[in-house]
Amino acid sequence: MPKKRILSGMRPTGKLHLGNYAGALENWIELQDEYDNFFFVADWHSLTTNPMAAFEVKEKTRDMVVDWLSAGIKPENPIFIQSQIKEHAELHLIFSMLITTARLERNPTLKEQVRDLSSEALLYGNLGYPVLQAADILMYKASVVPVGEDQAPHVEITREIARKFNSTYDVVFPEPETKLTSFSRLPGLDGRKMGKSNNNFILMSDSEEDIFKSVRTAVTDPEKIRRNDPGHPDICNVFAYHQKFNSDEVPQIKEDCMSGVLGCVDCKKNCATRIAKFFERHRERREYYLNHINEVEDIIDTGNKKARTVAQATMADVHAAMKMG
Ligand code: TRP
Repeated sequence: MPKKRILSGMRPTGKLHLGNYAGALENWIELQDEYDNFFFVADWHSLTTNPMAAFEVKEKTRDMVVDWLSAGIKPENPIFIQSQIKEHAELHLIFSMLITTARLERNPTLKEQVRDLSSEALLYGNLGYPVLQAADILMYKASVVPVGEDQAPHVEITREIARKFNSTYDVVFPEPETKLTSFSRLPGLDGRKMGKSNNNFILMSDSEEDIFKSVRTAVTDPEKIRRNDPGHPDICNVFAYHQKFNSDEVPQIKEDCMSGVLGCVDCKKNCATRIAKFFERHRERREYYLNHINEVEDIIDTGNKKARTVAQATMADVHAAMKMG
């Protein structure tokens, strides 16, 4: 049986943090042998946050792809850049005639943006964001898309667009399934979702010293003020990191925190050491790739070529089905 195809993408945010790892990348790595993979950088999508993001796209793409490879994404997989495959733009345009604005306005992400931004700040691109995402996914006829829960509505829109295209023209596209990432969100240092814009993150590539500097500032149980006060690990952000990156010691840490034997400073020091250890191999590989950046560029060139071949074949099917183009 041929392997099912999976398409995985992220917007270029530069060096990745532990939330990116736990929420997506770890899952990609686990799934990569089971599927026929395409990994890509959704750089056009990143312009919806800020059009001037364009100026930083190249550098952020490089930093992110280096993290993907360093974390264990195998370089034999196609890794490509959305904006280098112009077919995505054509398919996006065609799809934009197959879905109503009313439907796109019901998308939860858009509703949030409507709430957070003024209607003056809302872009045509925000409304069309899931339509471009549908083009990304269907271009490769992916049957599986690994995403966090927040992206599941976009895959639903993708399925609707696939159905609409198939019933209007001819059957070209499969209806992809969502594969939810297994680990839910990792809290940031302050307990909010870990993110670059929240400035509450630890990078996968941080040194032990930098990790400790960050973990030292992490919000712990507010009732544990002195070392001997009994703590409540379940509400502690540092404990969440232990659970993810130091699972072997979790029972002991839990016991010692609750009994008051373990103070937060020692616990944080240990946490930083364990996180640094967890990503030791990652930092080594990162060093290698940064010293061999041509290899990374070659991997992306090869990925772009493979992606383009598939995209051109899909567009040939699209043109044939539409009897146009
Ligand atoms: N919207 C996704 C995110 O913000 C990125 C993305 C764009 C994507 N196109 C995709 C993810 C296609 C999976 C498949 O994370």
